[in-house]
Amino acid sequence: MNSVSRSFDNKIVLITGGTSGIGLETARQFIAQGAHVVVTGVTAHRLEEARVTLGNRALVMNADLRDPDSLDAVIKEVAARYGRLDVVFANAGAGTASPLEAVTASQIQEQFSLNFNGTFFTVQKAAPLLTKGGSVILTTSFLNAVGTPGLSILSATKAAIRSLARTLGAELAPRGIRVNAVSPGPISTPFHGKLGLSEEQLKEVAAGIEASVPLGRFGDASEVAKAVLFLASEDASFITGDEIVVDGGLSQF
Ligand SMILES: NC(=O)c1ccc[n+]([C@@H]2O[C@H](COP(=O)([O-])OP(=O)(O)OC[C@H]3O[C@@H](n4cnc5c(N)ncnc54)[C@H](OP(=O)(O)O)[C@@H]3O)[C@@H](O)[C@H]2O)c1
Repeated sequence: MNSVSRSFDNKIVLITGGTSGIGLETARQFIAQGAHVVVTGVTAHRLEEARVTLGNRALVMNADLRDPDSLDAVIKEVAARYGRLDVVFANAGAGTASPLEAVTASQIQEQFSLNFNGTFFTVQKAAPLLTKGGSVILTTSFLNAVGTPGLSILSATKAAIRSLARTLGAELAPRGIRVNAVSPGPISTPFHGKLGLSEEQLKEVAAGIEASVPLGRFGDASEVAKAVLFLASEDASFITGDEIVVDGGLSQF
């Protein structure tokens, strides 16, 4: 993957959930390769930190994807500034851990509205600006393939997004636009701290993960970002509807 034409000089890249973790690191890598990046997030201090970290090749905007209309201002701004999009990384997501007996309808609605609806409407609203040869990457999860107690709803949202990569890939193929997914395994980001688990539970989960990942560790956001850049690049020009799994072998062995 390393030696190839990976320049994103003057490419226009939209990244949702780009103010933290995987999205932020992916924005950093795109910028390092010459892209202009538009990044969205919701939390004020992380929006500010992302502005400082990413510098003047990034436009950082607030958009709460539980409300699809919040994307309208982002798309309008991209259209006014650049008139097109070359890459869309629909990555924003979050989850709540809850065992079968404790899952509520509002937890289901909350997770589907951000993870699934947010991903779907990002692609729907960005699609008119996408150029021929453009690339869309959706963030799924190893949870698509590995049953994990307490994560039924989060896992279902990600399985639905895996399905979207195929359907939207088929819909956008006639325009020469590829749609793929990146499926992270356990990655060291703030994500886990937002699952609603206690410190003790988090430690237990982390130990269990390290024991079950064949490569014996959490992944780093940079390892997922590299897969995203590959899927966005010309090197992946005949790959669509597919998913790259970056999980240290967790879902494979
Ligand atoms: N980390 C893992 O182990 C792992 C494993 C599998 C899949 N994933 C997936 O990878 C993606 C990125 O996660 P991450 O690990 O990088 O987590 P993260 O560091 O928590 O980043 C999540 C991003 O989503 C944004 N976000 C949260 N709620 C939002 C909302 N209502 N509207 C718009 N944006 C919102 C956050 O914005 P603010 O920071 O501004 O709040 C942040 O930029 C997610 O889709 C996650 O499901 C992660």
